[in-house]
Amino acid sequence: SGFPSVLKNSLLKLGLPKDILEFLFGKIGPADDYPKIPEAKGSVSAIRSEAFFIPLYELYLTYGGIFRLTFGPKSFLIVSDPSIAKHILKDNSKAYSKGVLAEILEFVMGKGLIPADGEVWRVRRRAIVPALHKKYVAAMISLFGQATDRLCRELDEAASNGEDVEMESLFSRLTLDIIGKAVFNYDFDSLKVDTGIVEAVYTVLREAEDRSVAPIPVWEIPIWKDISPRQKKVNAALKLVNDTLNDLIAICKRMVDEEELQFHEEYMNEQDPSILHFLLASGDDVSSKQLRDDLMTLLIAGHETSAAVLTWTFYLLSKEPSVLAKLQNEADAVLGDRFPTMEDLKKLKYTTRVINESLRLYPQPPVLIRRSLENDMLGEYPIRRGEDIFISVWNLHHCPKRWEEAERFNPERWPLDGPNPNETNQDFSYLPFGGGPRKCVGDMFASFETIVAVSMLVQRFNFQMAVGAPPVQMTTGATIHTTQGLKMTVTRRMRPPIVPTLEIPAVRSDSSVNVSDIS
Ligand code: HEM
Repeated sequence: SGFPSVLKNSLLKLGLPKDILEFLFGKIGPADDYPKIPEAKGSVSAIRSEAFFIPLYELYLTYGGIFRLTFGPKSFLIVSDPSIAKHILKDNSKAYSKGVLAEILEFVMGKGLIPADGEVWRVRRRAIVPALHKKYVAAMISLFGQATDRLCRELDEAASNGEDVEMESLFSRLTLDIIGKAVFNYDFDSLKVDTGIVEAVYTVLREAEDRSVAPIPVWEIPIWKDISPRQKKVNAALKLVNDTLNDLIAICKRMVDEEELQFHEEYMNEQDPSILHFLLASGDDVSSKQLRDDLMTLLIAGHETSAAVLTWTFYLLSKEPSVLAKLQNEADAVLGDRFPTMEDLKKLKYTTRVINESLRLYPQPPVLIRRSLENDMLGEYPIRRGEDIFISVWNLHHCPKRWEEAERFNPERWPLDGPNPNETNQDFSYLPFGGGPRKCVGDMFASFETIVAVSMLVQRFNFQMAVGAPPVQMTTGATIHTTQGLKMTVTRRMRPPIVPTLEIPAVRSDSSVNVSDIS
């Protein structure tokens, strides 16, 4: 603490009355009794050229678990300390909002569950969480299997033709197909066809990502925002996605009105188990903008994150053939000749550890964003209302003090018979799905989705980096992407291919809505 407080304490010891001291030191007193948050100095321009969480990691090693970073008039607090992260996310979560994130995402998510704060968030969280009940997630497992099977067929073709494949975009399409079906019973079928709607979804996603890393909000500039070709394209894409959503809501509403099913806790329409169907049956207002905002939010939240997890998992596997071999053994032993079931998932323990470890090395998103709504204490430091805060999950997950050989991809660090690692049992040094009241609502969904995809893919194929593939480097949007894709050579495994028998799947493909139904 600074000189004034030392002086004040000495004078207090000399016997000067406390209220006189309070008066004399009143202005500088309180703030100065506390230590000041370290300020990171030096060039921050580096932050624009590479994935921005990398320089933040370097600064963390120099300045510690909390420091301030200033660019011109703006300043951010960077938090990499587990107990401060826990304080913000969990213990005092009501003192924090989504801040900058909500501002950036407003154009696409409105007041959807991710950006929403306060009462809107509370009401919608209560409406949406029940939709992802056990029976729903179990039904999704067969959807994950069917969608991954479609990807396997694409890969089979590439393997036969001796063509390399760019896995990042394939994973993005796989998870888009899954989330479309899971959230509003819509078949994007993006692994097969490139319809206008798929392109529109990607235009909107890219825009959201670009805005989140853009230094200047050009989209806010009057006139420009209406005449720039890029903004026009974004607006047209948004309109197409919204029109499609409106059609899907109308179709779903008709189904809900015609069905006999009583709404109850584990309500699920077998033909259409989608979240939209649950929400409409539970009484959500079809005409509300809120419903659309939430559907958009779920679409985006559940798409890019899972795709990124799969991309980085396969990248890691390409560097550790022994892990791939162990995964293949497990898949052979557990899956037999069927698509994974709920029972199988419990047995795919090593696969689960591989995903846990992939999420440690490549957390999605790599930083969580908050803004303080009131004055607060972060560790020993007082902060004011209105501070923008980045919690670097990347730093938490790479901390050299916390993790033995932190940079090594080592699924064995998580014992097979141990608990599934999460923020609670790892004391906020590992938070793949966030923590506290704003924790991911899709954590189970996403875990099962990625486990099913990984185990089915490695059971059928070997994966290697393609000869002459571009180096795999990171860039950021909302999640971590590669700069030039993940080009792999895929070969069929030597064991006889296993053809899954199609049991009657919970999600019947004939009940889904096709593009032709709504155009
Ligand atoms: C929130 C990660 C998949 C829906 C979050 C948060 C994280 C996260 C870290 C907390 C954000 C914050 O505190 O600022 C992931 C990862 C996924 C994944 C790594 C894939 C592996 C999904 C899926 C869905 C989903 C599949 C939907 C089905 C959401 C929603 C929120 C959220 C709605 C906001 C919750 C709230 O604020 O109340 N996710 N997620 N996520 N996630 Fe996920």
